[in-house]
Amino acid sequence: MSGEPKREQWASRIGLVLAMAGNAVGLGNFLRFPAQAVKNGGGAFLIPYMVAFLVLGLPLMWIEWTMGRYGGQFGHHSTPGIFDSMGKRRFWKYFGIFGLWSNLIIAAFYLYIESWCMAYAGYSLMNGFKETSPEKYFDWLTGHTPNSILAISPVGMIFFAACIIINIAILSRGLARGIEIVSKIGMPVLILFATLLAIRGLMITPESDPHAVESALVGLNYVWEPKFDSLTNPSVWLAAAGQIFFTLSIGMGTMHCYSSYLRKDDDVTLNGATGAWTNEFCEVILGGSILIPIAVAYLGLAEVQQKVASGSGFGLGFNVFPTLFNHWGALAPAAGFLWFGLLFFAAITSSLAMGQPIMAFLQQEFRLSRAKSALAFAGMLLPMAIPVAIFNSQSFFDEFDFWGGTYCLVLMAVGEAVLFSWVFGVEKGWAEMMRGADLKVPRFFFWVMKYVTPTLLIVILLASTFKPSCGWDKYVQSLGTSSPEKFEWASDSMVGKLLHRDVELKPDATPEELTFDKNLKIARTADRLMMLASFAGFGALVWIAWKRRSAEERTITT
Ligand code: ALA
Repeated sequence: MSGEPKREQWASRIGLVLAMAGNAVGLGNFLRFPAQAVKNGGGAFLIPYMVAFLVLGLPLMWIEWTMGRYGGQFGHHSTPGIFDSMGKRRFWKYFGIFGLWSNLIIAAFYLYIESWCMAYAGYSLMNGFKETSPEKYFDWLTGHTPNSILAISPVGMIFFAACIIINIAILSRGLARGIEIVSKIGMPVLILFATLLAIRGLMITPESDPHAVESALVGLNYVWEPKFDSLTNPSVWLAAAGQIFFTLSIGMGTMHCYSSYLRKDDDVTLNGATGAWTNEFCEVILGGSILIPIAVAYLGLAEVQQKVASGSGFGLGFNVFPTLFNHWGALAPAAGFLWFGLLFFAAITSSLAMGQPIMAFLQQEFRLSRAKSALAFAGMLLPMAIPVAIFNSQSFFDEFDFWGGTYCLVLMAVGEAVLFSWVFGVEKGWAEMMRGADLKVPRFFFWVMKYVTPTLLIVILLASTFKPSCGWDKYVQSLGTSSPEKFEWASDSMVGKLLHRDVELKPDATPEELTFDKNLKIARTADRLMMLASFAGFGALVWIAWKRRSAEERTITT
């Protein structure tokens, strides 16, 4: 215990905006967005995506900035305290646990991917992918073995440990000397790396490159050509909303935390919008100009679609890209280094943001020093991170991604939108948001925040909780026909996940596959118990913190 901690602050406005943009710009921009675009019909995705940005992304981002700055005035820097300062009932501070817990869960798998970026960047620079196939390297780095529940790689663990240590060391330096400096370096570097790759990639044509089957512009056109019929497809809307959440880091508690270090009259509207637009620039302009155009140029559109459908953007980025860069001859090592280097910078500026709310909570509520808070955060992270590193990615990694990184973000957003607009009151919230505003937000957003955002969020939450495997659109259309679809839980719905619907025992499964599926269910159950235990652990910490707080208040008043 070392007395009341000194209030930290951002050193500069540009540092704050870059840190906020760095928080948002992450692997999602360069790997998840392109894959979502491919899966949802290219340009078909763009209109729902932009609409989701306007009615969910921007309003929620302003809500989170405003809540954070408001809570910061009462000395709160994490969501339990911030929510407590806005809602009168004690429920809200417990609801705020999501803003700590999700970060721990996401960091556990996100840092693992970050460590792959580090390893891949080094290996690319050594021109290792000239000889080794990226799949082989990936299996070596992650210990992945088909049909094995264990996936242990000593080298992979060393990289993972190094990555965790780097993050903890930066976090222990504090806001201005740690996160802000890394963001001021990392963001320009990643934009530079991405720009170089996009320019070189978009120049690929079959005429200039004998390995190319298409012009890279065909891929670019695919991403950008809007298709209006997508507006009637609910699945595309859900995917677009999910991407907006992940990419802007909404519902995680990181934005609340960063903005809680603002002063009372500091602007939130222009800063918030600048951070969000920087993220969109990195996602749609840069993210949309690298992975798909280059992959389409060398593999053709059909193969890219098939690869993404059977894998993910991560698979394309890690397992396919290094091979494609080999077509760039002497530039291959540099290209691989730029690609994985930019992913590393994108990832680290986001993972630091995941650590800061937990650090702030420990520093403020338990009066721990920065160094002790950083160590305590590492102590919380390790029990979560170790299983991610030693078990097959379908178990801990995927479960953390679904519960912590997808479903609970929407749940938290529903809560914060209701808290802001209906408990605290949208009139008061709007006045709070507009204090010191450098950007006069159109009144239109007042109504969006009051009605549209909370309603849409509840619809999205329900739709991702209860979803038929054929999708609601097909299911509803089939109801009036002679062959209605049977209602089966979608494997990516919340109920379907709970029921392990994605681990279906195939009739022709081999004994190894059957054993794997059985072990997978056991591992996932253990994983869920760990998630519940960590949530309960945060609950206990919040309870203790508030007990101490009221005891201290009593002492002061008597
Ligand atoms: N917003 C971060 C990303 O896009 C989490 O990766």
